Amino acid sequence: MVFADLLADVVARVAALAPSPTRTVVDLGAGTGTGTLALAKALPDAQVVAVDSSSVMLGRLRAAADGAGVGERVRTVEADLDDGWPATGEADLVWASASMHHVADPDRVLRDAYAALAPGGLVAVVEMTGTTPVLPRSVGREGLAGRLAEAMTHAGWNQYPDWTPHLQRAGFRLVERVELESSPATGPDATRWVRTALERQRDHLAPHLPPEDVAAIAAFLDRPERTASGTDPEPPGDEPTARSGRILWAARRPSR
Ligand SMILES: C[S@@+](CC[C@H](N)C(=O)[O-])C[C@H]1O[C@@H](n2cnc3c(N)ncnc32)[C@H](O)[C@@H]1O
Repeated sequence: MVFADLLADVVARVAALAPSPTRTVVDLGAGTGTGTLALAKALPDAQVVAVDSSSVMLGRLRAAADGAGVGERVRTVEADLDDGWPATGEADLVWASASMHHVADPDRVLRDAYAALAPGGLVAVVEMTGTTPVLPRSVGREGLAGRLAEAMTHAGWNQYPDWTPHLQRAGFRLVERVELESSPATGPDATRWVRTALERQRDHLAPHLPPEDVAAIAAFLDRPERTASGTDPEPPGDEPTARSGRILWAARRPSR
């Protein structure tokens, strides 16, 4: 997995701050379960309640949890957080990775998270930063990576740059805010990641980029995918690079 180091780092920090013992973790907008699985492994006494509105995502998460041998400690709950807080029971840790910015009223969800947490419990909000494909030097004009990053900001990618006031309004005390950066990744997995990211983003980004950058991205995506076996590798120095970062906000519900 590209950026596995980032997830491992964030999960280790959260596990160190979580109450001891942590028996119940709620993963909000769990998706396919990368966070759920990492948390289940890092907190071996915990049950993880994975909440998502998508049954497809939860099906994949269930298969992944069973495959990773943690299925017995993972409960999936299909629920739309916009409709209210699902039946999770009291939690010691609420984790929301790349999901809080999707809900209609994040302040309400954070207030509900506060109510669901035991006193002393921890909420961890994680967002991606600088998730920028860096195209090879041979593609496009000088400075394309910077313009891509700027276009992402203009496209409204980072709607909530700071969760601190939202957490404080809900009653939480911030205990850690940290920004982490991955080492730039190259190789077949990173190349695939860059292609997938650009295919997903190019329509959103096009209105925010000069036409020659849009054309350069299209030309890159049109170029045949090289084989992972190395028989037809990217020319040296002409590989794309994947870059990403995370910001973690960890905040505590004060003890009684
Ligand atoms: C970008 S994914 C993040 C998945 C995972 N947490 C991760 O870090 O990889 C966002 C997830 O939030 C879920 N989601 C978005 N809005 C939601 C809502 N209102 N209620 C529940 N889940 C929601 C989506 O279905 C999706 O699986």
